[in-house]
Order: sequence, then C-alpha cells, then structure tokens
Amino acid sequence: MARLALDRAPAPALPRRFLLSAPLWGALTGVLLLAGGEAAVVDRWSPMTLAAVHMLTLGMLGNVMFGALLQFLPVVAGVRITGGPRAAHLLHALLNLGAAGLVAGFLGRWWDGLLMAAAVLALAFGCLAVMTLPGLWRAAGQALLRTGIAMAILAALVTAALGIGMTVGLSGRAGLPLQPWADIHAGWGVLGWMLVLIASVGRVTMPMFQGTASTSVRSQSTWLLAVLMVLLPGSIHWVVDGEPGALRLGAALLVTAFALAGLWLQWSAPRKRGRPLVRSWRAGLLALLVAPWLLGVGDGMLAGILAIAVGVPLLVIGMQMEIVAFLGWIGLQRACPRGVLVPSVQQLLPDADKGRVLAWHVAACALLIAAVAWPHDGLARLAGLALLLAYGALWCALRRVGRRSDDFLSSRPFHPPASAPDRHSAAEPANQDDRHAADPTHATNDA
Ligand code: HEM
Repeated sequence: MARLALDRAPAPALPRRFLLSAPLWGALTGVLLLAGGEAAVVDRWSPMTLAAVHMLTLGMLGNVMFGALLQFLPVVAGVRITGGPRAAHLLHALLNLGAAGLVAGFLGRWWDGLLMAAAVLALAFGCLAVMTLPGLWRAAGQALLRTGIAMAILAALVTAALGIGMTVGLSGRAGLPLQPWADIHAGWGVLGWMLVLIASVGRVTMPMFQGTASTSVRSQSTWLLAVLMVLLPGSIHWVVDGEPGALRLGAALLVTAFALAGLWLQWSAPRKRGRPLVRSWRAGLLALLVAPWLLGVGDGMLAGILAIAVGVPLLVIGMQMEIVAFLGWIGLQRACPRGVLVPSVQQLLPDADKGRVLAWHVAACALLIAAVAWPHDGLARLAGLALLLAYGALWCALRRVGRRSDDFLSSRPFHPPASAPDRHSAAEPANQDDRHAADPTHATNDA
C-alpha cells in the first residue's frame, strides 16, 4: 500500500476549491438540459450539446482532475508542485473562466468569445503543465505512476491544442476543420487525458479504497504504451488517409480493456471495502464497457453520453467524495493539538451520505440514457432535473464535511498548535495514541 506523505499535502483549501466547484458545473449541465429539453440531446453539433459536453469535460471533470492532482502528486507520488498556492488559485480561475467563456461562446454562437475562452483555457492547461511536469520529471521512485500521470497531462495539452485549433477555425480564421478533428480531440480527451489519469491513479487508490489487488507493472505499462500507439498513429492515419477505423477500433479495445480490468479487480478483491465507491465504480466501468461499441450506432450521441456524462463521472464522483473527506481529516489534524482524536473520514462523510448521492447519480444517468435513446422533450427535461438534483446532492454532501469539521472544532475549545507543520511525516503510527490520530479511517471514541 502506498505511503502517504501527509506533511507534503497542500493546504486542504486549495484542492477543495476545485473539488467543490465541480458539482456546480454538473448542476448547471442539468439546468441546461432542463431548459433546452430534447434539443440538447438529439444533435451532437448543436450549440447546447457542445456547451453541455464542455460543462462536463472542463467544468465538472476538469475541476476534479486538476484538484485531485494538486493533492495526489505531493502526498502519494512525492512530486513537488511548482508555484505554490498562488499558482493553484490562478489555475482555478483560468480553468473556470475559460470553461465559462467556452460554454457562453457555444450557446451564443459568439465566435470571438470562443476565441478568448480558448486563449484562457490554453493558459489554464499550460499552467497545469508548468506546475506538475517539472516535479514529475524530477521526483524519484514510482516511475510507472509518474509516467502515466505525465502521459495524461501531455494528452490534455494535445486535447486543448486541438480544441483551440477548432475554435480558431470556427471563428472564421485559419484553424482546424471540425471533421475529423472533433472526434480526434474527443479521443485524446477521453482516452488520453481522462482514462490514462484514472488508470494511473486508480492503480494506487483501488487497493487503498476498494481493497483490490493492483494491476501488474507489465499489464499497466503495456496498456499505457498501447494507448500511445493507438492515439498517435491512429490520429495521423485518420487525417492523412481519412481512415477513422484504426483509431476507433484501437480506442474501443483499450477502453474495454480498462473497464474489464477494473471489474475483474473488484470481483477478485481480497479485502472488499468502500461499498458506495465500489458500486459507483462498477456502474461507471459497465458504462465504459458499452460506450465505445456504440460509436458505430447512430451519430455516436449515446456513446458520447455513456462515456462523458455517465461512465467517467461515476468513477470520478466516487473518488471525489473520498478525497474531500480526506481533506477534511487532514485539516482537522492540522488544526488540533497532538493527542486529540479527530473524527475519521467515515464520520466526516458517512457511507450513508455517499450511498444517497450515488443513488441520485445512477437515477439521473438512467434518465439521461433513456432521453438520448428515445428522444422526447419531457424525458430530456426530467433527466435535466435529475442531473441538477444529483449534482446538488453531491455538493451538499461535500459541504457537510466542512460543517462537521467546524462543529468538531467549535465543540472543543482548544488552541491550535503554534506552527502548522504536520506532526505525522507519513501515515505510520508513532505510538498508541498517535496510531489512532494518524489513521484517517479510525473512528474516535469520543466523536
Ligand atoms: C482547451 C480546451 C478545449 C477547447 C477549446 C475545446 C473546443 C472544442 C471545439 C471547438 C469543439 C468542436 C465544436 C463543434 O463541433 O462545433 C469541441 C468538441 C468536443 N470537445 Fe472540446 N474543447 C476543449 C477541451 C475538451 C476536453 C478536455 C474534452 C474531453 C475530455 C473535450 C471534449 C470534446 C468532445 C467530446 C467534442 C465533440 C462534441 C460533439 O461532437 O458532440 N473538449 N471542443
């Protein structure tokens, strides 16, 4: 099991800012569907669909993945993030301003607005690369983990560059045409950026939170290499020869391998735990198992929804709740003097809360799939309402962690320690009392 370098964790407020912004974007996607109805789910090129796609990929998933990286890299991968809190605040502003501009540009067919948003997003992805890649390169150990995360961030840069290229084209200047670049852009974004990041981080967090074994070094590195060997030549082949087959089939096989590996690890887990998380991952992996094979059916709308609005979000939301509870626990550790037993992550965000949130999301996803499979205005609006309520429930559950922490602190009037350096260099117990204090999963007996 990976050692957690808690002393290297950033101030919990930094990643939390991203993780709590994400559900607001999900809720906004629900509002768009509620307002737009059937028009938002029938034509992949419609402004509302494009806006919804980027509310989810940049707003919801982008915020969680950027925020999680700021936490995961120093604590688990021993990677130093460049730029400190200022850079993290700038990154948050650039990502969310850029995403808002892109969405407004699509909805209002405001090409200059799109162009400005694309420039801001270029800065956001550039900022992420500058903050993370040097540390990923310089860190020691965990080479496979660092390689996977670096690959994902480089794929995010390619995704952004292609998106910006198309935006320039849409504004009537010399840019990339939508066909075939929109599909290639989507392929690099979903497979190269999102699934490579989840596969790399998941290799550490699935054993930690779901009690599974880890994928072997050989199978993980083979899969990573195959992703590279499919995305790069597959994209060139499509552009030069107009042949999408290699990229489409290769991507479908790799997404299927990812989903099957995850389902197998869950099924064969030696120490099953984290039930709500296991269930959301199972549902997300099943959606990803089907999605790529629907690309050949219709205009790929159902495939897109299953990947971007159902599969990846269900994987990410499950982890988001674990991370926010963990941030709450780190915050309490730092706020309390030595020897104070703080509430555990389960007490900060109980399984019952997680289960309720995930039930809302599974219901919303089912309605969304139905609304795309059987286009109907009322059904689409109902799916929008369900999405709004599901992301609203997620946001409230995440906020409750902060409230529970505040309640704990206000119910025990003590002076926070003079200096904030974490008294636990790694999650290894120093003595009997510390054992309890250092183990986030251990419940306090007086909470
Ligand atoms: C810098 C950030 C980005 C910019 C500027 C951008 C821009 C664009 C543009 C201009 C299009 C084509 C719109 C049209 O067809 O009229 C597009 C399509 C698309 N983008 Fe992005 N994008 C960005 C990031 C992302 C990310 C990170 C993902 C996913 C991981 C993503 C997923 C998609 C998908 C799936 C489509 C196809 C939508 C469809 O055909 O229905 N984009 N993007």
